[in-house]
Amino acid sequence: MSNLEQTLSIIKPDAVERNLTEEIKKIFNKNSLNIKDSKKLHVTKDEAAEFYRVHQSKPFYNDLCAYLSSGPIVVMILEGENAISTYRKLMGATDPKDAEENTIRKLYGLSIDKNSVHGSDSLENAKKEINFFFKN
Ligand code: CMP
Repeated sequence: MSNLEQTLSIIKPDAVERNLTEEIKKIFNKNSLNIKDSKKLHVTKDEAAEFYRVHQSKPFYNDLCAYLSSGPIVVMILEGENAISTYRKLMGATDPKDAEENTIRKLYGLSIDKNSVHGSDSLENAKKEINFFFKN
């Protein structure tokens, strides 16, 4: 049975800075994740704090918000069959040193903070995250 989903992707500042956006978009296309919408923006620290609010009790929260707001990012809506799990597999483990070969984080991630990409972890969060960046 078909299970068409949408998920949110963020190309983080470390990857945008190294001009990896087009390479990463090619990976999405090769893996049947269609880019439905895409924009480049630079969030404020307050916006990053709101986006990552689920992590507010974590010790890394402050650094995470400072990092996401440190430079331009590219946010995209990806659509495809089982897009949420497909994209999470393609990203690889959060820490690039634990990520499998040929995953985006293994190929491009620099550290657990500068791990090049973000992806929604559930259908509920995908809806919230898409709405956060692509409100009509
Ligand atoms: P992301 O998928 O964007 O979601 C939250 C981010 O927090 C995660 O990627 C990491 O870049 C960052 N982070 C920093 N430290 C940790 C940690 N110890 N565990 C999980 N995520 C971390």
